[in-house]
Order: sequence, then C-alpha cells, then structure tokens
Amino acid sequence: MATESSTQPAYKIIDHIYDTVVVGAGGSGLRATMGSAEAGLKTACITKVFPTRSHTVAAQGGIAASLQNNTPDHWTWHMYDTVKGSDWLGDQDAIEYMVREAPAAVYELEHAGVPFSRNEDGTIYQRPFGGHMQNMGEGPPVQRTCAAADRTGHAMLHALYQQSLKYAADFFIEYFAIDLIMKDGKCVGVIALCMDDGTIHRFRSKAVVLATGGYGRSYFTATSAHTCTGDGGGMVLRAGLPLQDMEFVQFHPTGIYGAGVLITEGARGEGGYLTNSEGERFMERYAPSAKDLASRDVVSRSMALEMREGRGVGPDKDHIYLHLDHIDPKVLAERLPGITESGKIFAGVDLTRQPLPVCPTVHYNMGGIPTNYHGEVMTIGADGDPETVVPGLFAVGEAACVSVHGANRLGSNSLIDLVVFGRATGHRLKELIQPGTAQDELPKDSADLALSRLDHFRNANGGSPTAEVRLEMQRTMQAHAAVFRTDELMAEGKAKLAKTYERMQDLHVSDKGLIWNSDLVETMELDNLISQASVTLHSAHNRKESRGAHAHEDFPDRNDAEWMKHTATWFEGWGGNGGDVKIDYRPVHEFTLTDDVSYIEPKARVY
Ligand code: FUM
Repeated sequence: MATESSTQPAYKIIDHIYDTVVVGAGGSGLRATMGSAEAGLKTACITKVFPTRSHTVAAQGGIAASLQNNTPDHWTWHMYDTVKGSDWLGDQDAIEYMVREAPAAVYELEHAGVPFSRNEDGTIYQRPFGGHMQNMGEGPPVQRTCAAADRTGHAMLHALYQQSLKYAADFFIEYFAIDLIMKDGKCVGVIALCMDDGTIHRFRSKAVVLATGGYGRSYFTATSAHTCTGDGGGMVLRAGLPLQDMEFVQFHPTGIYGAGVLITEGARGEGGYLTNSEGERFMERYAPSAKDLASRDVVSRSMALEMREGRGVGPDKDHIYLHLDHIDPKVLAERLPGITESGKIFAGVDLTRQPLPVCPTVHYNMGGIPTNYHGEVMTIGADGDPETVVPGLFAVGEAACVSVHGANRLGSNSLIDLVVFGRATGHRLKELIQPGTAQDELPKDSADLALSRLDHFRNANGGSPTAEVRLEMQRTMQAHAAVFRTDELMAEGKAKLAKTYERMQDLHVSDKGLIWNSDLVETMELDNLISQASVTLHSAHNRKESRGAHAHEDFPDRNDAEWMKHTATWFEGWGGNGGDVKIDYRPVHEFTLTDDVSYIEPKARVY
C-alpha cells in the first residue's frame, strides 16, 4: 500500500502490478482477458458490474458466421454484405479478417460451452438477419446468424467468464476505472475506484485493453443499459487521443415504444414484419428485395418517414407495429422466449395475439477508439502518419472502431466483432509481452488526473444536480443527432450542448463519501458521456453527406469523392460557441488483407 506523493489530495492508493489489465467484462473484454491469461500473462480484468451482467447480455439474436448450416454461404458473401452494410466506410482488410475468422471463433465458443440452439441434425441453428444475403447480395436472405434462442449474448458471457477463471485471470468486480496512466505517449496503467469500500487502486501494466462498450446513454431513449457510459472513450479523450467516426450512431428499428427495451432483429428473422397505421407492410416499398430484413439504417429511416408522413400508429402516430402473431406460438416459445416476456412486461402485449408497438431506438455506436485489426489503438502521429500505434493501449468491442462496421453495422456482426478482435488482441499481447519482465516506472504524477477529477466532482457544491445535467444532454442528443439530421438542427444542438457543458462547472454532488457513492460515479460517467456527445455532434455537423446511419437532409447523397474518409476528433474542452473539438481525417483502407479477395468497389446501396 502506498500514499500518493504528488500535490493531489491525500487518498490512500493500493498498488497492483500486472502484465495486462483489461477494463470491462462484456464479450470483448472477457475474450481478451481469456486470451491474455491463456498466453501465460498475469491478467487483471476491472469491471464496474458483475461480468455476466455486462451489456453483451442484451445482444439477443445471435452472432454472424458463414457456417452454412441452414443455407449455402461463404465468407466472401459475408464480407460483401458487411462492406455494403458499412456504406463503404469499413476498412476492408479488417472486414476480411473478421469474416474469415468468424467460423473458428463460433466453434471455439461452442467448445467453451455456449448452448447454441440446434438444427435437427445437431448443427448450430442459424437464422436470417438484416442485410445478410446470399450470393454477394444478389440472392435471398442467408441464414448466417448463430443463435442461442434470443439469449445469445447472455450465454456467451457465462461461457467466457468461466473460461477466464479457468486460466486464472484476476477479477476486480465493481471497480470503476477513472483514468489511464500515460507516460511519454505510452499507456502504463490505469487508476480505479473500488466502489464497495472507496479505496483507490493503481494498476501498473504493460498493456491496458479498453473494453468499456458504447456511450448509448448520451441519448434519452436507448436499448443500452444504464452502464453504457463510454468510460473508455472518455479516458481516451482526456489522454489527448482522438476518437473515430463518432457521427455514426445506430438506431435499432425495434425498441419497445416508450420503454426503449430491445426486441431482437431475430424477430423479423423468424418471419415478423412491420406495419403502419393503414396496416400496410411498408418495407416492401423501401426495400423491395430484402423488405423487413434490409439493414438497420434503411429500416429505421423508413419507419421515421412513415411516422413523419402521418402513417405512424397510436394517437400521436409516433410508433409502428411489429407483428409476430402469425407465427406458431411453439416457435415463439422455443426461439424467441426472451422477447415474448419483454413484450408482456414492458408493453403489456401478448405477442402470440397482438402486435407490439415499436420505434427506432439508439442501439450502437459505430464510432469509437481507433484501432488496427490487432486491437492496437492508433492516433495520428506528430509526423502526420494517420496510423501511429499508441504503445501499451488496446481497445476492443463497441468501445473500439476497427473499423469493420463503417457507417452502419449489420445486426449480429457485433458479437462476432467482440470475439474475433478480443481473440486477436490476446494473440497480439502474447507476441508483444514477455511475462515477468520489468515494468516501466510510473511517472510521479501517475494518479493526478484521476484523483483531481474524483476530488473535484466529490466536492462539487454548485446548483446543478448530475441527473438534471444528464437529462439536458440526453434530450439534446435525442432531438439534434437523431435518425434524420439537418445543418440547422445540428448547429442548434452544438450550441445547446455547449450550454449544458457549462453546467458541468456548477454540478452538485450530495454524497461526499466514498463508499458506494453512486452520485459520484454517475457524475464521472456523465463527464465521459458529455465529451463523447460533443464530438458526436461536431463530427455529424462536419460531415456534409449522407452515409449509412448519418442521414443528412441537406446532403442526401453519399459523396465518395470528398467523404470516403474516417473522421478523427479530439475533445479539447470548451470555449465560445460550440467548444473546442478538433477534427482531422484518416483514409479508409481500400485494400484487402490477402490476395484471396479483391477490394469491393463502391456502388449504390439498395436492398
Ligand atoms: O437485434 C438484436 O438481436 C441485436 C443484435 C445486434 O445488435 O447485433
């Protein structure tokens, strides 16, 4: 045990030394933890919730891999669909890596104990999902999404947690990671608060892997858990590093109206369909070939248009119906038991007899911490090199932007991203780290950033309760960075958010203690959210085209000549109207990893 010797308030610090510290215990964090521990590295996993309660639990419908159990398939078809789904913003080398590794990653999960649903012949059951088609987009929907009923993510968490324990990784559960420790541009550890007893922990390590998930809670209505506060992205911005493609926020077509709870796309995969107030299956007009199984951005936009044109259902015409009442109740019970229960609990609807009210709901962040396909975090170097690796720092899962999802992610490509890149990161750690070798000395001020923030917020005595400031931010994001965006709307949103950010100086935290101080932790989470909300609005306002989930009504077309590039954004605090967000770009990888496949040239995206 050591006492901090810098100028910061005297908090007692407990020191730990590890080869690898993983922050976050969802699917990607657990897979990276397992890989690191399996490689013989002394590995810690820090997590603010118990691993099996992580947000991966909400990935219901399944995990994409071209196993060919239910229909013909090929990894090149999966690659084509993912590139098209990304609206050509995905990096094709990383996409090739993901789809080729996908089948092995799924079989590995099967062997690790994931109880996949089965076909008659005993093989893993695969269902159709949006945007996954046969024969390079030319054929009918492919059955590519491997499912454990509609609880796939939940099942994966249990298997991966057990495997990580088997390899003797240490878990620090209900610890909140506050900030990275950086030394001369290298990451050398992380500072965390043990929420249970209020102690401060300093983890010194050769590698830190951020697996902290998305920042969906910057919006008012999201399928994301309340824990999805983008803590890794916040830490990265405070370390002076950029985030990438933050303008691309996915709206899942079927969040339960009013509650935001997810209804899996697997519902439409099993034959469910959407109707408007006239009882019309309107997706036939917008996506004549894929219909209700078009990609999520297309379906969400179509629903928004129906509502805008007065064909939404309900007294306010502000939602749409999802029908599953024509499906055999036995099939619902076997393949979609979770959402059948959610429908009852959150909408009072019996899915076997009634349609479910749904509307597009924030679900996923395509943007995040830029990495290569080994999980290594990248920044734009002082020499302008857009792919300078930040030593010691890795990111995986929704927190990261590899970029395999580009401007729009296909459903069930998230779970495969988690395990493929969690595993790739494990491989890279094994290559780079020699167990038991000397660690870098920590800088004298190693805990200053973390402790000064903690102390500042803990003693905040202003007039703005955290919950009030958070709600203001969430309402602004919901109204100004939604499915459809205009220049005027986003400019207004930036100005509103700048005002909200000023209130961060006037926060009021009532609990001054350190033991289970949820007021304090939520304030640090808000600090993480608001910086990412800001770079989201700024990058969205900056991108003068429409691509994937970014539907800009003043620039309705995709503009490859000017905008086929990733946005990189730095948050430099605020000043004046809209604050200081720096924007730069990095090229999209217009090449593949191997000669087995060629670069897929951009073309119009129709379903
Ligand atoms: O609809 C779903 O089951 C969600 C899965 C995903 O986002 O990949």
